[in-house]
Amino acid sequence: MPLYHKLGKIPQKRHTIFKKSDGSLHYEQLFGTIGFEGMSSLMYHLHRPIMVKEVGKTLDISPRAAVDHNIKSRLLNGFEVRPTDDFLDSRKVVLFNSDVHIALAAPKKSMTDYFYKNADADELLFVHKGSGVLKTMLGEINFEYGDYLLIPRGMIYQIHFKTEDNRLFITESYHPIYTPKRYRNWFGQHLENSPFCERDFKLPSNLQTHDEMGDFLLKVKKQGQLHHLVYAAHPFDVVGWDGYNYPYGFSIHNFEPITGRIHQPPPVHQTFETSAFVVCSFVPRMYDYHPESIPAPYNHSNIDSDEVLYYVDGDFMSRKNIDQGFISLHPAGIPHGPHPGTYEASIGKSKTEELAVMVDTFRPLQLTQAALDIDDGKYFQSWME
Ligand SMILES: [Fe+2]
Repeated sequence: MPLYHKLGKIPQKRHTIFKKSDGSLHYEQLFGTIGFEGMSSLMYHLHRPIMVKEVGKTLDISPRAAVDHNIKSRLLNGFEVRPTDDFLDSRKVVLFNSDVHIALAAPKKSMTDYFYKNADADELLFVHKGSGVLKTMLGEINFEYGDYLLIPRGMIYQIHFKTEDNRLFITESYHPIYTPKRYRNWFGQHLENSPFCERDFKLPSNLQTHDEMGDFLLKVKKQGQLHHLVYAAHPFDVVGWDGYNYPYGFSIHNFEPITGRIHQPPPVHQTFETSAFVVCSFVPRMYDYHPESIPAPYNHSNIDSDEVLYYVDGDFMSRKNIDQGFISLHPAGIPHGPHPGTYEASIGKSKTEELAVMVDTFRPLQLTQAALDIDDGKYFQSWME
């Protein structure tokens, strides 16, 4: 996050003596994800953050390909993924490659008896249903319907839900996720023509410092394996921190759409970028206002990317038989475009209420069995008259 933030108590000068009330020293930790060059935060712990008591079992949770080489357009019914008590168990990867894993999850219970760290990937959680609190070592973020939660890799967290009816669309990125460079100036500030700016971000607050010794289970995902470690101190023992590397939230409802007299291309909807995929937000907006404009998108040849659209709410003007929680996959190699009739039907319409999240990956995606289980199997033929 290209925005300086701080919480709690920190010494005036970094890397200097910073004493606890009993006269002993706090333990400083630099937390970054790109060597010593990327964005980082400096945090101050009550206890050494490396006190591993036990290394327990390891589970292989890496996704397996059921379809390696996909050329079919697909339609997955995401709400068919069954609710599951545990947050990690509930995550079902449906599409993946070496850059990104895309998962659906319907967790019922809050995470209370363990902590989680994804050491492999940044996580982008899109909250389709549910609300609660993301608790991290750097503070808390309240979330609700429509929020993206961006959790940089290495961040220890717990997720707490208010109710059992939760639906998440999760993008796990093996490359850092940033807001688009073209929206920012040379210092990182969001520009006047960016569809969102710093005021729209939900930054961590309410830093809770736990001074507790005992057995604290931390599940660490690394190289597709889930390692079970027992730490001697509560992982949330930070008294203060400052810097640029921390989790944050952003509501899709705060994305201000860019419209024009004629159809605007998908990059106007871009919300996040990585070196291997982009994330776009399609939000309710006024349609094109040229008197002869066709608001529905033209057919386009996405020869260089697989397009994943997750449908959240509203009407989807270019698609038929689409409902909330569906995912369409339009693979590279064949063009895609509006369904028969929708192109013509869009003419003269003044606005759309559609709400959707798009992930365009630059390398092809593989499908898991979990994807095939919810695939309608016939979507690829749905452009026939
Ligand atoms: Fe498209």
